[in-house]
Amino acid sequence: MQTMITKQLSDSLIEDKFKKITDEYNSYFSKINSNSDLANDVVNFIFEMSSKINKVYKSDELKKTGQFHTNNIKIVELMLEHVIDFNNHKSLIGKRLLEPSVGVGLFVIGLIHKLYKQDVKLNDLKEIIENVCMLDISSEMLYFTELNIKNCIRALYKIELEELDKWSLKLIQTDTTFKNNGQDLLSDNLFGNVTEFVESEEGTNFKKQLKNDDSKFDLIIGNPPYITLYGRRDMKKTEELRNYYIDNYDFVPKTVKNGKFNITMFFFEQSLHWLKENGELIFIVDISLFETAFADLRKYLLINSKIINIIRDFSSFENVGSGQVIIQLKKINSTEKALNNLVKVTDLETNKKYEIPQLNWYNEDEYKFSVIDDKAIEIIKKIEKQSMELASKYPKKSLRTCTMMLDMEEQFTTLDKLNVSDDLPVMPYYVGSKSLKNKFSSLNFEKYFIYNKSLQDEINDKLKLELEAKGIKNKKRIGLGDLEVYKSPKLFIRQSAKEIIATYTDELSAANNSLYCLSLSNSSIETINDLKVTCSQLNSKLSTFYALSTRIIRTAKGKQPQIKVGDLKKIRVTYSSEVYDKLLKITNAIYTESVKIEEALKEIDEILYSYYGLSSLEINYIEEYIKSF
Ligand SMILES: C[S@@+](CC[C@H](N)C(=O)[O-])C[C@H]1O[C@@H](n2cnc3c(N)ncnc32)[C@H](O)[C@@H]1O
Repeated sequence: MQTMITKQLSDSLIEDKFKKITDEYNSYFSKINSNSDLANDVVNFIFEMSSKINKVYKSDELKKTGQFHTNNIKIVELMLEHVIDFNNHKSLIGKRLLEPSVGVGLFVIGLIHKLYKQDVKLNDLKEIIENVCMLDISSEMLYFTELNIKNCIRALYKIELEELDKWSLKLIQTDTTFKNNGQDLLSDNLFGNVTEFVESEEGTNFKKQLKNDDSKFDLIIGNPPYITLYGRRDMKKTEELRNYYIDNYDFVPKTVKNGKFNITMFFFEQSLHWLKENGELIFIVDISLFETAFADLRKYLLINSKIINIIRDFSSFENVGSGQVIIQLKKINSTEKALNNLVKVTDLETNKKYEIPQLNWYNEDEYKFSVIDDKAIEIIKKIEKQSMELASKYPKKSLRTCTMMLDMEEQFTTLDKLNVSDDLPVMPYYVGSKSLKNKFSSLNFEKYFIYNKSLQDEINDKLKLELEAKGIKNKKRIGLGDLEVYKSPKLFIRQSAKEIIATYTDELSAANNSLYCLSLSNSSIETINDLKVTCSQLNSKLSTFYALSTRIIRTAKGKQPQIKVGDLKKIRVTYSSEVYDKLLKITNAIYTESVKIEEALKEIDEILYSYYGLSSLEINYIEEYIKSF
């Protein structure tokens, strides 16, 4: 007996589109029949084929459905071992399992292989596998899942395919994020505002059944698709989809209008909803899970589940984008119990382990899931008690990028300033680390920036018309800002691999968007002194420590370090008379070159450590903490 999906596909489509692939399967498995030694290799073969299957698709198509497989058997096994006790496989019998975006079935293959290695008998295996629900939006993926599962079991257990055709595999084509609450789609359709989802009859029945608590799952495992809802190309459709998600998902605050959503988020909520109380979920997801866009989802996870494990930093595995993280949750209906939990965090490469009270994450700004221990928390408290956020001293637009030229930099910059008409202001143009090498360093440049307001207006008028004609709301435009900013004394700031680097200048100058610019657009002596005192603090070890431990600087393997303007505004500074003159004096000494920068940095650190009342143990902790990045 074949499932509907296989029937639909196995005829023409598979033969045409995947001919090479199916040929390879046929040739491999015909060899297995005659050579039983190959049986153990079957899992490797299936994992390798998953990449070949993906090569049939254009990269655009893969991105659209987030179709990237966890084709590393070690990661799959690691995840399975976290949620299943393989020494006691009987405990799995009768348990309901779900793979909500099954792809070509690699987690199920991993499960079969592990059970086989534990000598699990065919009858038990059948019972377990028939209890695994496998969902995917793509019928082609489901076709390969079925092919893989059957061939894998056939090779390992040496049974005939006909026998396996009698198994009832639960392969369901559906959009996992579609709630299918049985609303009257037809009447909505009359007004043309229904969002389209992939849904099959089996999918509808499956979701209906899940209303009943007994049908919920004991274990959910997977690698949900990572798809950001941008909607440049098809605005209207994306808007509808966005509204659907806002209306139907609880983690999204009702006030949200323009949330930056990713499909991964809906997989979390939907899956938690489908879990039994105390049921467990383990997902491998992109590390953007820790970014601002995911803050509401993180809050939802914190109050609806115990976060059992977070596994990060697995660069030791080949083929696994190291920009990923494994997260294991246990569903719990009591927020109080959830917040009492201790989360285990493991850095796989270094085998460093941490235990973080879930409550700390709940109380944290943006629920950032910061991995810091009690010592760091104490130090942060000491800093916060005697300082203010940079934004309270420099509100609104005082901290920003100087110029926004889209892809038209060429029109606003020149190598030779003699070419530029006399009436346009021309100034050095600074670019990232090339221009600002080190803390307090003087600035280098190759090109000049031309402050051409009328060219900006001309381009913006044109852009506006073009985008309106395409019905695009998102109004990207050239922004040169106020000339005063370029003229005024200012700091240029950037993030290096793991620290903040800043320098002061009072020269007419501009920078591209790789440098932040801090300026009050005036040249009073007070403003100048404040900027210098700020500069010294941004360059201190204490700022680096604060930025790293509170994730103002977000470092992560596999991701470019980045610092967002909104985060940088939260860095702490002080203008207390206790330190002001000292910091000013040392900064002036740097710029008049009467002290070596290295010595000056040391002195600044000491001034600040003493001001915040940090003990030598704490200072040592700070310095070691920074080194550990
Ligand atoms: C990242 S892959 C993971 C596949 C598999 N879990 C693995 O690790 O090998 C994501 C899968 O999700 C499927 N998918 C994408 N959007 C989906 C949706 N809304 N509902 C169900 N499946 C979806 C894609 O077709 C793809 O097979």
